[in-house]
Amino acid sequence: MRVGVCYYPEHWPESMWEDDARRMKALGIEQVRIAEFAWSRIEPSPGEYDWGWLDRAVDVLGAAGLQVVMCTPTATPPKWLIDRYPDILPVGADGRPRAFGSRRHYDFSSPSYFAASQTICTAVAGRYGRHPAVAYWQTDNEFGCHNTVVSYSPAAVARFREWLKARYRTIDALNQAWGTVFWSMEYRSFDEIDAPVATVTEAHPSHRLDYRRFASDEVARYNRMQVEIIRAHSPGRPVAHNFMQAFTEFDHYKVAADLDIATWDSYPLGALEELWFAPEIKSRWLRTGHPDFASFNHDVYRGMSKLPLWVMEQQPGPVNWALWNPAPLAGMVRLWSWEAFAHGAGCVSYFRWRQAPFAQEQMHAGLNTPDNRLDVGGREAAQVAAEIRTVLAADADANAAIRSKVALVYDYEAKWLFEIHPQGADFHYPRFAFEYYCALRSLGLDVDVVPVDAPLDGYRLIVVPPLPVVPADFAARLANSGAQVVLGPRTGSKTEHLQIPANLPPGTLSAVLPLRVWRVESMRPNVTEAVHSADGTADGYARHWRDFIESDAHAPFEVRASFADGHPAYVKSGAFHYFASLFDDALSARLFARIADEAGLPTTPLGDSVRISRRGALTYVFNYSAASHTLSGVPDDAFVFGAREVEPQGVAVYRTT
Ligand code: GAL
Repeated sequence: MRVGVCYYPEHWPESMWEDDARRMKALGIEQVRIAEFAWSRIEPSPGEYDWGWLDRAVDVLGAAGLQVVMCTPTATPPKWLIDRYPDILPVGADGRPRAFGSRRHYDFSSPSYFAASQTICTAVAGRYGRHPAVAYWQTDNEFGCHNTVVSYSPAAVARFREWLKARYRTIDALNQAWGTVFWSMEYRSFDEIDAPVATVTEAHPSHRLDYRRFASDEVARYNRMQVEIIRAHSPGRPVAHNFMQAFTEFDHYKVAADLDIATWDSYPLGALEELWFAPEIKSRWLRTGHPDFASFNHDVYRGMSKLPLWVMEQQPGPVNWALWNPAPLAGMVRLWSWEAFAHGAGCVSYFRWRQAPFAQEQMHAGLNTPDNRLDVGGREAAQVAAEIRTVLAADADANAAIRSKVALVYDYEAKWLFEIHPQGADFHYPRFAFEYYCALRSLGLDVDVVPVDAPLDGYRLIVVPPLPVVPADFAARLANSGAQVVLGPRTGSKTEHLQIPANLPPGTLSAVLPLRVWRVESMRPNVTEAVHSADGTADGYARHWRDFIESDAHAPFEVRASFADGHPAYVKSGAFHYFASLFDDALSARLFARIADEAGLPTTPLGDSVRISRRGALTYVFNYSAASHTLSGVPDDAFVFGAREVEPQGVAVYRTT
């Protein structure tokens, strides 16, 4: 557990660097991320490198006893490079190149950019790979930010055709897999296939899904190129990338497979404002962020990180990029930091050391104000650094890896498929996965977020949010796990080529869950359908979607809840539970509590504003509410810090055993 910071020496006079480094160290900071946007200073003109300033910056930080996280600068190709190779610019769905003048203006499929990236990465990794102060690497910055995963350039289409050839081998196989006989869309060769864009009405969904898969693979290929260069020049230094919050536009499992550390950038207030949350939720958690949102991301990235995950960028105060940008309540920067550590983080690195007085992000807070005084976030970061020492002294096992008893299966293709083929306009996969997560967390359960191909042994409860495409062996692996399994609606509803399974949904899962979804309906946001449980204990309502299900005559399921019109809403067969709709939060929590009980997992109803996490021998309590929360049954001498009375925005840490 340690804290870090993001620093931009190129933004400040060199005369400030030594004092900055000294103050960072005094504050308790141990690592400093630099250079991810510095290409125009590293290589001001083609082939003319200016290393002097960066050498001195790295030396100053190293001399102060700070570890450097060196970045490749490829998120911001300089103007001269774009003018030389205009094909670097990605092409939008409107067929127009996106312009120079901000960042991430590159196409993952551009051969010119791939080559230019190899050159700059080799130069930077060659220069600093063995520098004693450089301890870690970050590739690029936030792949996909600003909607940059998919490009419709000629280079992308050419590579897409190659990707299709490798996947289908023959054009007949592709025509068959996609079902192009529909509307006379059959192709005679791969070279006839374009990007699925600018069509008169919706483009073919299988074509669109494959384009998304292809674009995702392009990100992984580009990252892998950088990782290989770094590893060759900087042996033994872990390589990271900073992913984004709730971002689903590429398959993060595939990119993370090439990294040592999955890190992410945590902006809880910006996320709340910008993402799917209802207006009343946005105002309720305005200055704290949603109590489950950062945790969800920690658990997502923990699951794909070989070394402990990091928060590479932690919101330190108001940001600039949301529609509205509230200030966090006092204590929240500290609370968010401890929440990260409680979920397994090895480092929380604040963005940024000092607020910039110029350019796009001049309204974005830092640990210091632009006139170089410590801001609220800076004071809380110092407190966290001091508390880390207390925790490490109290528990030798505080950095322990986390392994939970509950797994939530999380998938990227599911997001693309439901977006391409929604059937109900608001069928938003990440939101539904998050809602299941919240329901589990509100019961005090710790959750591992895992991919669909993860080993499932050892889990007692496995929760699968709507997952349209399941691997052939999924049914058997779920059954063999011995866990109670909850499947959301639409699970198993499509084949990998986006067709309806021959035996109807849930497709191959019917081997372990003998039911047939014979009809579906989607529901407008203002429509709900009452749900009544068979034993009268859990009533509520259904939203968004209904599967109409019937049982196999030979293996009837138990109907645990029904819709008001009598159709089954929740059924159970053996250890498998099927939810035929998305239920309201309270009903979901009640159903999960009962199923957790059947799985032998104790639950603690926490409501919506207090959260508990366990790591090593310690239990961490977080209070997001405006009122104090009283812990019962914890002896006074068990507290490492905090007390039984957890104040609003407070954190308490106590020995579990
Ligand atoms: C992140 C990005 C940073 C900075 C920050 C502002 O998305 O990686 O460079 O822009 O947001 O909140």
